[in-house]
Amino acid sequence: DTDATSKRQKVNREPVSYSPKTLQSNPALYDGNFPYFRQPREIGCFSLDIDREFHNDARQLRYYFPPDDTKRVKFDLTKGYEKYIKRDDDVKERLDILLKWVLANREKFNLHKKPETKEEIHTQKDGNLHTDFITWRGHLTKILCTPYENREDWKMAVSLFNGTYYISEVETEESRDRRKNMTSAHKEMTYWGYKFEQYVVSADGHTPPSTEDTVNNIEGYCTVVRTRLNENSLVFSGEVDCCRGDNTKPSKNYVELKTSREIYTDRQYRNFKRFKLIKWWAQSFLPGLPTIVAGFRDDDGVVTKLETYETMKIPDLVKDDPYMWNPSVCVNFCDKFLCFVKQVVQKDDPRCVYLFEWNPSSKRIIYTVHEDDQQTFLPDWFLEEMQK
Ligand code: A3P
Ligand code: MG
Ligand code: MG
Repeated sequence: DTDATSKRQKVNREPVSYSPKTLQSNPALYDGNFPYFRQPREIGCFSLDIDREFHNDARQLRYYFPPDDTKRVKFDLTKGYEKYIKRDDDVKERLDILLKWVLANREKFNLHKKPETKEEIHTQKDGNLHTDFITWRGHLTKILCTPYENREDWKMAVSLFNGTYYISEVETEESRDRRKNMTSAHKEMTYWGYKFEQYVVSADGHTPPSTEDTVNNIEGYCTVVRTRLNENSLVFSGEVDCCRGDNTKPSKNYVELKTSREIYTDRQYRNFKRFKLIKWWAQSFLPGLPTIVAGFRDDDGVVTKLETYETMKIPDLVKDDPYMWNPSVCVNFCDKFLCFVKQVVQKDDPRCVYLFEWNPSSKRIIYTVHEDDQQTFLPDWFLEEMQK
């Protein structure tokens, strides 16, 4: 029949080296075994002070300081909202802070030999970081959750420079609209998460939480980790809320803090598992963060109890329900996305930006190429220093 014939002819006319134009995100396509994912290793950390200045150290690391009875607490998260010092969301930092860390830690990218003298550090600077991808942990969390996402679109800018792919998120029109049209009640609720942190952390590990201090979302402590997903080596950084116990091996004791609404019904519990636990799991799984402490709050913003989750056991809570999510799908999809980026991004030129876009109605990633400087995100100070 003619339909089949024309189809066959079309297939025959495909070029030999086939370069994919899109990547689908349907979960059924990524089922299967969990891929190889090397145990993430911390290779550094940094701190951001109240002026958002970068420090190549752990000065902002805070310590988990739980209340005596975690099942009976009363943390009022609405307190102090009028004093809140909030970062300006219109200012886009892109990868800048992470790039500062890269420049301050160039010697850590040389896999062959640890340089011993200043001269060796200099001669080993070949401009190649021996890493396929550099990005924020939060960007990868979004990729991992994409097969199960049905609300928020995303856009990732990628540039290839000296053999490394840099991935930097770009705010979509839709998420900008959502941000600009937030109700005052919703705005106040984004404060609650930071206020909760203040109730359960100590600056030095000994002094109890100081809950009268002004809350800000400017200061922060970040870990930088190296790992590998199949053929894709990665270096990424993410914020760490606090750490448990002493300071001898902090990265094994990191704790992620979360808040969530109290759960009363089966329906609420299912939604919590389906939409929230996937994000909590993905965020902490990526840097190998072992523990999540959640504060459950009522509608007035009062936390009444704390619950501890082991990151690696979260998938067990959803595994028997086919309408939930599967961690293998998340990580396989991320692997395929990284492979897709490597196939698409051919030009090793920091001025050239490939924009990858996904939205929940099309359920596929498409890309466009930009060479007009509008989308360029690797700053001159970074490029110049890397070429020295
Ligand atoms: P909760 O997640 O407990 O609500 P993180 O949990 O990643 O350390 O982030 C700390 C807090 O930042 C969050 O606490 C939330 O209040 C706020 N936050 C994180 N991501 C956000 C986003 N995309 N939009 C608005 N607020 C966000
Ligand atoms: Mg945090
Ligand atoms: Mg947190």
